[in-house]
Amino acid sequence: MMVINTINELKEKIRFWKDQSKQIGFVATMGYLHEGHLSLVRESKRSSEITVVSIFVNPKQFGPQEDYNFYPRDLNRDRNLLEKEGVDLVFHPSVEEMYPDHYRTYVEVEELQDKLCGKSRPGHFRGVCTVVLKLLNLVQPDEAYFGWKDAQQVVILQKMVKDLNIPTKVVPLPIVRDNDGLALSSRNTYLKPQERQAALVLNKSLDLAARLFSQGVKDASLIKQKMVELISTEPLVRIDYVEIIDLQNLNNIDKLEGDALITLAAYVGRTRLIDNIRFISGGIEK
Ligand code: PAJ
Repeated sequence: MMVINTINELKEKIRFWKDQSKQIGFVATMGYLHEGHLSLVRESKRSSEITVVSIFVNPKQFGPQEDYNFYPRDLNRDRNLLEKEGVDLVFHPSVEEMYPDHYRTYVEVEELQDKLCGKSRPGHFRGVCTVVLKLLNLVQPDEAYFGWKDAQQVVILQKMVKDLNIPTKVVPLPIVRDNDGLALSSRNTYLKPQERQAALVLNKSLDLAARLFSQGVKDASLIKQKMVELISTEPLVRIDYVEIIDLQNLNNIDKLEGDALITLAAYVGRTRLIDNIRFISGGIEK
């Protein structure tokens, strides 16, 4: 497995594979890898000939008060995990390599970027889209794998790829959870034991929504109300949002039908966590 830090070396390697008409699969990450990331890598290994993984904690997607400086990093651990999965190339650039002095170009997906997480994290998706477009331009993958864990990110990147005619297929994959149901996240490492326990209420509120839906409840405001009531029983958890939305345009819906998403963000102590459940063609995907 090659670990490459510079754009020039990456381009050279990609050109080599393109010349041999290899299918390239790509997984973008910010590192500190867990089974969620590895599920994307495994899908790439399964369906593409070459697997490229990027590890880059992208400063442009963190707000000034956010955790960029504290975000967990462990390249050696990540490298070992990826080596075991049979990854072909890891791209691990410096911030200067990605954003040299006088860097000036940004990508915005209007409207979609301002909703949900975009409201509490202004500029976040502008940073995400900018770095992902740069990475897609460099790696030129046939398929890029993203987790439904970040559902808004998936919807926005699908739109960016469509609007900008990028020749990569965005493949979204299911959320990987711990045994107790907590969605895996690099940020879970911030949680103190008591907070981690409290965080389980988020997953439980999504289970409650699924149960209500299975019992025939479609009224979005009723489902939302029951979820908020349940989450509010946990004093360590502060809701940022709980929304029931159309998966295409991220607009609120009154009735849980069509392709819909129940999505939430909450602070557990000082850690912001997100989770969701999808209702696609009448089926529940959690
Ligand atoms: P990061 O949080 O490291 O996540 C990298 C990829 O792993 C994303 O597609 C994310 O949705 C997926 N992922 C994270 N936790 C998951 C889980 N529990 N189950 C399944 N997939 C999971 O998302 C980012 O980085 C960045 O915004 C990035 C796209 C790399 C741009 O900087």
